[in-house]
Amino acid sequence: MFKIRKIDEGTFLKVPNPCRRRLYWQTLGESDSSLLMESGEEEKMRWLKRVLREFGSCVKVACLDDAAIGFMQYAPAVYFPRVREYASGPPNEGAAFIACLYILDGNRRGKGFGTLMLKNLIEELKEKGFMAIETFAKISSENNPSGPLNFYLKNDFKIVNRKDDFPLVRLNLK
Ligand SMILES: CC(C)(COP(=O)(O)OP(=O)(O)OC[C@H]1O[C@@H](n2cnc3c(N)ncnc32)[C@H](O)[C@@H]1OP(=O)(O)O)[C@@H](O)C(=O)NCCC(=O)NCCS
Repeated sequence: MFKIRKIDEGTFLKVPNPCRRRLYWQTLGESDSSLLMESGEEEKMRWLKRVLREFGSCVKVACLDDAAIGFMQYAPAVYFPRVREYASGPPNEGAAFIACLYILDGNRRGKGFGTLMLKNLIEELKEKGFMAIETFAKISSENNPSGPLNFYLKNDFKIVNRKDDFPLVRLNLK
C-alpha cells in the first residue's frame, strides 16, 4: 500500500539516506563534504526541529508497503540558504519552496509516485494558505534535487524566471 508520512523528531530515522544527512539546501558553497560527514545527520535533525517549531511539517517520506521509496523537503525558501546561489531566483517570499522531491530507486520512477507525492504536497500547502509553490527545476536532466522541468510543467507549474539551466517554476495556489 502507498502512503505519505509526515516526518517529525520521533520518526526522523524513517528518512532514507542519503536524504537524512544531505545538507545541500541547508548550506552554501561546497556541498559534497556535507554528504559524507557523520555529523550531517545531527545537523539535519537540528534543522528539522527548528523548521517544525517555526513553520510546521517540512519533510515527508513516501512508503510502499512500509518501505521508504520517496522523499520530500519543503518550506519557505528562507530555510534553504542554497537558493541564493541560483541565478533564476530569488524565490518569492510568500511561496513554499520544494527543495527536494525524489524517488530513490530508478526502478520505481515513471510509475506515478512522484505525481502522487506532489499532489499530496499541493493539498497540504493549499490548506496552509500558501499563495504558490516554487522550485528550481532542471531543463536538461532529471539529476536535480527537485527533479526535471518536464515533471513540473506536466503538473501545471509555469516558468517564472529563466537565467540558466535551472529555471524558477511556480504553481499558483490562489
Ligand atoms: C522526478 C521524479 C520525482 C518524478 O517522479 P516519478 O514518479 O518518476 O514521475 P511520474 O511517473 O509521476 O511522472 C509524471 C510526469 O512527469 C514527467 N517526468 C517524470 N520523470 C521525468 C524525467 N526524468 N524526465 C522528463 N520528464 C519526466 C513526465 O511527463 C511524466 O508523465 P508521463 O509518464 O505521462 O510521461 C523522479 O523521477 C525522481 O526522483 N527522479 C530522480 C531525480 C534525481 O535524480 N534527483 C536527485 C536527488 S538529490
